[in-house]
Amino acid sequence: MTEPKWLKDAIFYQVYPQSFYDSNGDGIGDIPGLIEKLDYIQWLGCNAIWMNPCFDSPFNDAGYDVRDFYKVAPRYGTNADLRRLFKQAHKRNMRVLLDLVPAHTSDEHRWFRESCKPQKNKYTHWYLWTDSAWSWQKEGFSLIRGASDRNGCYLPSFFASQPALNLGFARPDPKQPWQLPVDHPDVQAVRREIKNILRFWLDAGADGFRADMASSIVKNDPGWKETSRFWREVRTLLDQRYPEAALLSEWSTPSAAIAAGFHADFMIHINDTAYDALFRQEIWRNHWTRRNAPSFFDKQGKGDITAFLKPFLNYQAKIRRKGHICVPSGNHDISRLSYGRSGRELELAFAFLMTLPALPLVYYGDEIGMKYLRHLHSKEGGYERTGSRTPMQWTGGKNAGFSTAPKSKLYLPIDSAPGAPNVEKQSRQNNSLLNRVRQLIQLRRSAPALGRDGKLTLLCAEKGKYPLVYLRQAGRQRYLVVLNPSGQDQAATVPLTAKEKPKKRIGRGRIDFLPHGRRTNLIAGPSGYGIFQISEDT
Ligand code: NOJ
Repeated sequence: MTEPKWLKDAIFYQVYPQSFYDSNGDGIGDIPGLIEKLDYIQWLGCNAIWMNPCFDSPFNDAGYDVRDFYKVAPRYGTNADLRRLFKQAHKRNMRVLLDLVPAHTSDEHRWFRESCKPQKNKYTHWYLWTDSAWSWQKEGFSLIRGASDRNGCYLPSFFASQPALNLGFARPDPKQPWQLPVDHPDVQAVRREIKNILRFWLDAGADGFRADMASSIVKNDPGWKETSRFWREVRTLLDQRYPEAALLSEWSTPSAAIAAGFHADFMIHINDTAYDALFRQEIWRNHWTRRNAPSFFDKQGKGDITAFLKPFLNYQAKIRRKGHICVPSGNHDISRLSYGRSGRELELAFAFLMTLPALPLVYYGDEIGMKYLRHLHSKEGGYERTGSRTPMQWTGGKNAGFSTAPKSKLYLPIDSAPGAPNVEKQSRQNNSLLNRVRQLIQLRRSAPALGRDGKLTLLCAEKGKYPLVYLRQAGRQRYLVVLNPSGQDQAATVPLTAKEKPKKRIGRGRIDFLPHGRRTNLIAGPSGYGIFQISEDT
């Protein structure tokens, strides 16, 4: 198996196209707008972009309800614009990943409209239809009834308007003949079509995909056996024909996703609680009724870093560098990182993300601390997620420089709070979050020890304790990272001798070192952090 060379130093930037930059004044972001802002993303230091779905869609789920996989949604531009985006990105040595949505389509997709017909046709089995309109309660699934004159109920994959594509049942119930096995010719046809979509965009210049709902494409599949078999076929196709293309999964179980052939998997808020333990555990309590425990990067200082690190290291051990973990600052499905945090606290979270042996991803706007606008009305199926999807704040001018359209035409309202962050202002301030994130990225890119493949040694990472201290190492290059998200002074003892001199490369607040024989006591001030290069006196 091969791996794209560029993935080694990749730092991702996630673009939500409708909210990034509006080039034609219609109130919604578009692909030519993203092209105009490539220089900004490059200036920040990110070299790979993942763009949320940009395909033709009725937008009941912000584009995750695709109506035509082969056509860019007119509101974003044309297929030619997308090809130009690939070209312009490549000119800057940057990559662009698209969003592949293999689990479902929009209910307005032509394939689904055909499958709704009572007359048998090519698409009859492309979706999961039961064989009676009255069977919605019997099947053990949550089915939609009365959608058409076809005598059956269909299985939605996410919202009701997103019927599940038929990638088969790993263990079809013999008493339910509508459950087709994975080798059924119609199931195979759907699978071929997904590969065609992939090939179509890779041939157009895309550098890979993030795969939506990657773990739930095959039904009744204990241990993801058949799901993995499908993805391994996709990986073989990539290895043979597109070795420089990358596949990232929305799976959040890296050991399974990498074994299934993905180059990297996001460790996020699904399938697992580890990611929440970093940034969002307490915040979600309020509106998504998740768990009720503090997260590590909260000022209260009551979090538990091992709740993240244990599973993270466990996954790393299982993956054994056959693939990678991507730990993002956020995404379009969760509250923003800034929710409940000051700029200084955000900087600390970024210091962690940029020194982890993983692939980092900056969710657009997190680098300036854009706010989670909690009370917005839902837009395009966003519900609570809507507040994390508002237009990028570029300047202090009209519509924050996002669009020239009248305010009423904007895709979503823009943060109107006095002092709301924007790129223009923060790029001029030396100590702004934006410049700090940029410096952290630069530092990571300049030091192999801090990168994806550098070795991680935990020096102080105990349940319920602060600060978090670790070493990163590549060859003779060594960096010490000290992070104290809590609001109090925190002390630790680390195995550094007086001869090993920590030279500060970036940081905030106080970190004092008091060498003591073969060890060093350190004190980290409130919300303080430091990244130090270790040099040895000889
Ligand atoms: C995960 C995507 O990130 C989310 O935004 C979408 O609503 C669902 N998958 C359904 O496609």
